[in-house]
Amino acid sequence: MARISSNTALRKKVSKELVKRVKRVVNNAYAPYSGISVGAALYCANGNIYTGCNIENSSYSLTTCAERVALFKAISEGERKFLLLLLYSPQVDSILPCGACLQVFSECAPEIIIATMNANNEFHFYPLQTLLTKPFKLSK
Ligand code: THU
Repeated sequence: MARISSNTALRKKVSKELVKRVKRVVNNAYAPYSGISVGAALYCANGNIYTGCNIENSSYSLTTCAERVALFKAISEGERKFLLLLLYSPQVDSILPCGACLQVFSECAPEIIIATMNANNEFHFYPLQTLLTKPFKLSK
């Protein structure tokens, strides 16, 4: 997780902590319709971590993804600088954010690195800009 810190010890500690938090929060997913649980752990520039899980609804389109739950929790607590988002789903190998989440992150956390993890704790890293190259922006 190169963007977190150049200090290897801190990097390991943070990545271990993020893995622990994402694996814990994924158990809170409310996903009776899809059966797919997703966890997200958002690492802020000040070292704080916010987690989120997906929350589905019988009116399907009202479902909220884990990524946005974590981001909105953080923003509502006053956080504004985000370095890394770790995602994990036991059902979907190396899960990546949907287009809606990419759009939201492009506005609130344009520099963020998306990390995704599989069942063997193997990571892949993607700068947000590589996943959404041309986000929608209001031109006033
Ligand atoms: N989901 C997420 O929480 N994050 C993603 O990146 C993709 C999809 C959720 C939404 C829904 O509850 C379930 O996964 C299946 O789409």
